[in-house]
Amino acid sequence: MGAYGKAEFDDNYHVYCERPWGNPGDRDPVTLGYIRKYVEPQLRTFWELALADDALNITREDRVCVYGCAYGWGVEILQELTGATVVGSEMSQYIHDTKDLSDHVDIEAACEAVGLKLTDKRVQEIKDYWGTVGPRTTATVLQEDMQTGRSRNNVSDELGGTPTYVITEDMISEMTDDEVDAFAKDADKFGKKNTEVIHLTGQKSRSTERLNELTGHTCIYVGSESTTKTERS
Ligand SMILES: C[S@@+](CC[C@H](N)C(=O)[O-])C[C@H]1O[C@@H](n2cnc3c(N)ncnc32)[C@H](O)[C@@H]1O
Repeated sequence: MGAYGKAEFDDNYHVYCERPWGNPGDRDPVTLGYIRKYVEPQLRTFWELALADDALNITREDRVCVYGCAYGWGVEILQELTGATVVGSEMSQYIHDTKDLSDHVDIEAACEAVGLKLTDKRVQEIKDYWGTVGPRTTATVLQEDMQTGRSRNNVSDELGGTPTYVITEDMISEMTDDEVDAFAKDADKFGKKNTEVIHLTGQKSRSTERLNELTGHTCIYVGSESTTKTERS
């Protein structure tokens, strides 16, 4: 699985957002997809667990690029929790086309999809409860694949220096072995002495040992269980 389009985000995230008001009964319930109010608290837990692992010693002096960051909510969280300089990179064109929009656009589309009119009270209730004000992210989200020197320079320029960490955020589990291998080699081109590459995975498609073997990097499983499992490079 490569970069996500809208269909992949919609397939993977279903929030039954009318729960606070009960089952609507006479029509399908409104479901939302990759919406900040729902996803951001989970990403906060994900990063808190990751930072509790000894392998991640990020300080204010660090420059970090979070790869596969979607709208960059994890970038904002990491910046807040560590004080480091953090940017994200995400190859999904869908994310770049929508990241500066308000999430009210998605809420209205989801309401209309089940037959609600935008003037219905429920639409406003859902916006007030689930929507956020303004654009959905304040993070810097680049679209850099790191394959070329120019792409890596763009990341370094944005960070004010070569990244001290490249971290994947639940990205490599869904990639094929060949894709993981190619990504790992590109990330290593920042220079192993300058940049530590770490993979955070929230899915168990492969063991952390296998991911470590494939990438040569430290891999940390940050699952829903409260303990993390690490394989170091
Ligand atoms: C499972 S989602 C995780 C999104 C976000 N990090 C989170 O945890 O909510 C995987 C993300 O990685 C991105 N991705 C997957 N393969 C990629 C690749 N080869 N290059 C760049 N991004 C990729 C997808 O576009 C998607 O945004």
